[in-house]
Amino acid sequence: MMATTHICVVGSGTMGNGIAHVFAQHGYSVSLVDVKQEFLDRAVKTISGNLDRQVKKGALTEAQKSETLAAISVSTDLAAASAEADLIIEVVSENLALKKQIFQTIDANAKPEAIIASNTSSISITTLAASTTRAAKVIGMHFMNPVPVMKLVEVIRALQTSDETYRQVEALTKAIGKVPVSVNDYPGFISNRILMPMINEAIQCVYEGVATAEAIDEIMKLGMAHPMGPLALADFIGLDICLAIMNVLSEGFDDSKYRPSPLLKKMVAAGFLGRKSGKGFYKYD
Ligand code: CAA
Repeated sequence: MMATTHICVVGSGTMGNGIAHVFAQHGYSVSLVDVKQEFLDRAVKTISGNLDRQVKKGALTEAQKSETLAAISVSTDLAAASAEADLIIEVVSENLALKKQIFQTIDANAKPEAIIASNTSSISITTLAASTTRAAKVIGMHFMNPVPVMKLVEVIRALQTSDETYRQVEALTKAIGKVPVSVNDYPGFISNRILMPMINEAIQCVYEGVATAEAIDEIMKLGMAHPMGPLALADFIGLDICLAIMNVLSEGFDDSKYRPSPLLKKMVAAGFLGRKSGKGFYKYD
């Protein structure tokens, strides 16, 4: 198996900076790529803040924090950053045309033996693999938010993914202290196929006036031991993302059981997207 030492993370938003953080914390050298320097500056600030939480809890020392930050370099040059990496993880917004374009740039510049992964929560890995000349080396690595905290990486095998690629990614996932779980490529994989209909049903209960958002969340927290209620979780994930995933399930399976709630559609239309917009089912400062 190749010795993977250099990781390139493409996209420096919440998920991208979390993934860069975790690889750097475990001794990998990481290039974090985005289109604007200001996005990268913000990402490094976020990583530093999240490392401070770990230092405060005694999970990391100040020296480990500094080593982690030193292991991350930032770049706006995707071609150059792809060329030196053993594993490139794409973490850009959920737009198929954009992802395909990025996959093609990576494919044209990366070493022949490099693996290309996507953190997509809903786009077909099989389709992304087919847009490259190395389909057997394409795979899904679906991390959960907040990345430094959540143990799971859902590892999605496209129809073309080789067993060798899967084994390499499985080993890397374990090396960063996460637990890989293997899933085949179908809409929503497993995590969102099960999570999103639950969130959608909670929204439908608000829509029908069965209970308030607070009551629904209280029931799921106290009755089912969920760390967050489904509506607080929807705000945390982003209502636009929840809607996009319901649409992927609905179209992918052509089954009305995945129909997004009219209230979810209306809130997204109003720009009430949850935490990131300051308002969703709850208000945020
Ligand atoms: N970086 C580093 N550490 C972090 C962190 C971050 N971004 N966010 C939280 N933490 C740490 C805290 O420091 C704290 O550490 P200790 O356990 O050592 O004390 C721990 O995580 C818990 O955080 P808090 O005490 O601040 O808050 P909490 O106990 O309420 O937990 C939570 C917060 C971890 C987010 C918890 O509420 C939770 O697990 N929620 C559910 C999250 C979830 O379901 N995520 C999946 C979303 S779906 C997804 O991501 C995929 C998709 O495709 C949509």
